[in-house]
Amino acid sequence: MKDALLKIKSLAKDELSKVNDTKALEELRVKFLGKKGELTSILKQMGKLSAEERPVIGQLANQVRAEIEESITNRVKEIKALMLEKKLKEEELDVTLPGNKATIGKLHPLNIVLNEIEEIFMGMGFDVVDGPEVEYDYYNFEALNLPLDHPARDTQDTFYITDNILLRTQTSSVQVHVMEEKKPPLRIISPGRVYRSDAVDATHSPLFHQIEGLVVDKGITMSDLVGTLELLMKRLYGDDCKIRLRPHHFPFTEPSAEVDVMCFNCGGKGCSMCKDEGYIELLGAGMVHPKVLANCGIDPEVYSGFAFGLGLERIVMRRYGINDMRLLFENDLRFLNQF
Ligand code: DAH
Repeated sequence: MKDALLKIKSLAKDELSKVNDTKALEELRVKFLGKKGELTSILKQMGKLSAEERPVIGQLANQVRAEIEESITNRVKEIKALMLEKKLKEEELDVTLPGNKATIGKLHPLNIVLNEIEEIFMGMGFDVVDGPEVEYDYYNFEALNLPLDHPARDTQDTFYITDNILLRTQTSSVQVHVMEEKKPPLRIISPGRVYRSDAVDATHSPLFHQIEGLVVDKGITMSDLVGTLELLMKRLYGDDCKIRLRPHHFPFTEPSAEVDVMCFNCGGKGCSMCKDEGYIELLGAGMVHPKVLANCGIDPEVYSGFAFGLGLERIVMRRYGINDMRLLFENDLRFLNQF
């Protein structure tokens, strides 16, 4: 029996040294020390021993149990340490590696100039308002003195959703919304996308941007319009910038004008950029037509106003010397990163 005990001890130690995970270790513990384990089965035979032998073998059995238990405890510690080491190796983090560089976005040139223009107008007390891009015929044409049979509609063909609903061709539609909702004094600009059924080329796009301006109050005259636009252009293009008004026709203003700005390339002398004109056309403007005021419930006998509409692309192209409008819409980062 003594031999059997010693054999169990050496066998247990041998097998313990070979296990590498806690599950197998638990199985070994059951195998050697469990109720149906090898040590127990030997102790069950103690009854056969003589009175002198019994305490000796009993003591040895306790000693063997204690030693196996100790070995198991030690092995648990070793396995845990091994597992930790493995885990640390697997999750190793090299803090000296270079990080992922975050790329910071930029404003599109259209937004750079639009922000500038908004700043200039806010400085003059204007509100910046938004209007719908999907619009009723009434707001885009009818209320602006362009009835269904008006020939000027031909120059602004657009995309129709129904006979009565379209993609707006001009931000002038916002004038009507503003005058319907609020009463004078009014001082707003309204930037936004407009649409026309035009083929794409260097100066045309079916989608482009306009900035509408509207001022309505008592005693507003043409000189207020000129002063406002002169200040805008000086702020945009420098203090020696000059503007010029040419008579024109728009159905929603009377009188109407096209506004040119002195060519920054030649200073008015005439060059290839301004086609020898000395001036470059930038926007349309005029005094709000009394009919338009009346359409919006504002008494033209009491109030008067001026309005203007400018194309943002044209201003941006002049500002940066861009000769093809398509560049503004292609989203080529090699182009956009230059601003
Ligand atoms: N809406 C006109 C266009 O797209 C531009 C314009 C001209 C707007 C005169 C105005 C204005 O407010 O008074 O051609």
